[in-house]
Amino acid sequence: MSLKPRIEAAMSGAIRLGQAGSAPPRLASALDYAVSPGGARIRPTICLSVALACGDDRPGVADAAATAIELIHCASLVHDDMPCFDNADIRRGKPAVHRAYGEPLALLTGDSLIIMAFEVLARAAVLDPARAIELIRILGESSGMPGGICAGQGWESEAQIDLRAYHRAKTGALFTAATRMGAAAAGEEPDAWTELGARIGEAFQVADDLRDALYDEATLGKPAHQDEINGRPNAVSELGVRGAIRRLEDILSGAIASIPSCPGEAMLCDMVRKTAERLTPVLPAQHIA
Ligand code: IPE
Ligand code: MG
Ligand code: MG
Repeated sequence: MSLKPRIEAAMSGAIRLGQAGSAPPRLASALDYAVSPGGARIRPTICLSVALACGDDRPGVADAAATAIELIHCASLVHDDMPCFDNADIRRGKPAVHRAYGEPLALLTGDSLIIMAFEVLARAAVLDPARAIELIRILGESSGMPGGICAGQGWESEAQIDLRAYHRAKTGALFTAATRMGAAAAGEEPDAWTELGARIGEAFQVADDLRDALYDEATLGKPAHQDEINGRPNAVSELGVRGAIRRLEDILSGAIASIPSCPGEAMLCDMVRKTAERLTPVLPAQHIA
């Protein structure tokens, strides 16, 4: 069953709330521009898959969790593209928010989406207050300091980058949040789900490094070769293309092995396999030995 319609409905519901009443029209429009059409929606898909595997007994809470994660992710992209970070003009095949709406509105769009994420979770408290509080705590940990996205982006302003801490915070934290929040939304203990999220996050980072090195801007829908241009340490410069692909395969088989036993274990294995297929880049001819 595709989770896409469920994710899109929950996302549009949240954005509509942010556009209601006396909202300033350009900022209201930028909110929608930043989240739709979306990208792969990989994080909310993982979140809902874990919630379903754990029984999904409060679907409204799981929807809130998935939406909150994707809102934070979209906000991080809006801020990440701004001139003070990566100064990237293209995102998801169209002008980045600051190129389409200007910097002040891009800053406010990111801010609004972050705040909206926590608001969505707070609203879910009417369905289950204890779970909503747990979800707010997990999302805070994975988006802020000391180990969330803010920390990850913060490493780029240090003279010496701790590569593992950088990747874990910048990319891994939100994947860990996706599995943990999926479990917590369904009333399960989140700690058992940390390893699966961490492994998918690590695989995602290696795959992203490969795509950045191998693909062009038209294929990626965002600027290519950024790691090389910005001199960032990455899996391809460290391991080579084939080494990085081997690493990706190792991490993903570890991810499947780490799935906790639960009613939907087989379905989750399938989700991780499909994620792996989607992540593994198709190698351009010169890299096929
Ligand atoms: C891109 O994430 C940003 C990174 C964390 C490297 P995605 O590749 O999941 O972006 P979208 O949402 O599909 O556009
Ligand atoms: Mg960046
Ligand atoms: Mg960037």
